[in-house]
Amino acid sequence: MRRKLVAANWKMNLTRAGSVDLVAALRKQLDAEAPRCDVVVCPPTVYLEAVAAVASGSCIGVGAQNVFGEPKGAFTGEVSVEMLSDIGSSYVIIGHSERRHTIGHHEDDAMLNAKVRAVLSDGRLVPIHCVGETLGERKESRTERVLTYQIRAGLIDVQLQSSQGIVIAYEPVWAIGTGQTATPEQAQAAHMHIRKELRALYGRIGDEIRILYGGSVTPENAATLFAQPDVDGGLIGGASLKADSFLAIVRAT
Ligand code: 13P
Repeated sequence: MRRKLVAANWKMNLTRAGSVDLVAALRKQLDAEAPRCDVVVCPPTVYLEAVAAVASGSCIGVGAQNVFGEPKGAFTGEVSVEMLSDIGSSYVIIGHSERRHTIGHHEDDAMLNAKVRAVLSDGRLVPIHCVGETLGERKESRTERVLTYQIRAGLIDVQLQSSQGIVIAYEPVWAIGTGQTATPEQAQAAHMHIRKELRALYGRIGDEIRILYGGSVTPENAATLFAQPDVDGGLIGGASLKADSFLAIVRAT
C-alpha cells in the first residue's frame, strides 16, 4: 500500500520571513490534524535551513529544488548533496521541467541521471525525479515514448534497495502554471505507463514507488486526481504558496 505524498515546490518565491511564516502556519495546522499522507515543502535553497528549523520535529519534511551531481570541487554556484543534507534537507527535486527546458538551464537526461546517482549513492536524500512531455510531444502522440525515455535515461545504473528510496513526479509541461490541469484520465494513463516502466526496471519494488502528479493542482481538482489508482499524491506549485490552499490539497488525500 503506497502512502500518499504531497510536496510543495515554492520555486523562486517568498521572502525569508514569508517562508518561515508559511511553514509555521502549515506546522500549526498539521500538528493538530496528523495528516494521512506525507508532507514535504521545498523552499528556495537559501531559506531551507530556516524552514527546516521551524519544521523540525513535525510531520513536515523539507526538500531542495535542485542539486549538483558531484560531491565537491570547482563548480561555482552549485550545491552538493552533503550541503543540502547539512542544512536539513531530506528530499530533492531533480529534473523539474523548469530546469530541463528553461533558457539557461537545459539540463539533459545524462546530467539528471548523474544527479539521481549522486543523491542515491550518498543515501541521505530522497530524489523526486520529474518527467513529463511538452504540448508539442503530446499533440504528436509521443507522450508515452517521451516518458519511457526520461524514466530509462534518468535511472540508468540506478539500483534501489527499497521503494522509499525515490519518488517520481509526472509533470506535463503544458499543465505547469497554466491552469490547464491534466484530466484525471490523462494523469492516470501517464502514471500507469510510468508504473509499467518502473516495474520493468525494479520488479515488485516498482509497484511501491510513489508517482506524484504535478501541474495546476488546486484544492478543487486535487481529490479526483488523487483518487486515480496510480496517482500517489502531488507536486504543487502555485497553490502551495498559501497555507489554506496547500492544506486543502493535503486534506484531499
Ligand atoms: P503549478 O502547480 O503552479 O502548476 O506548478 C506545478 C509544478 O511545477 C510543481 O513542481
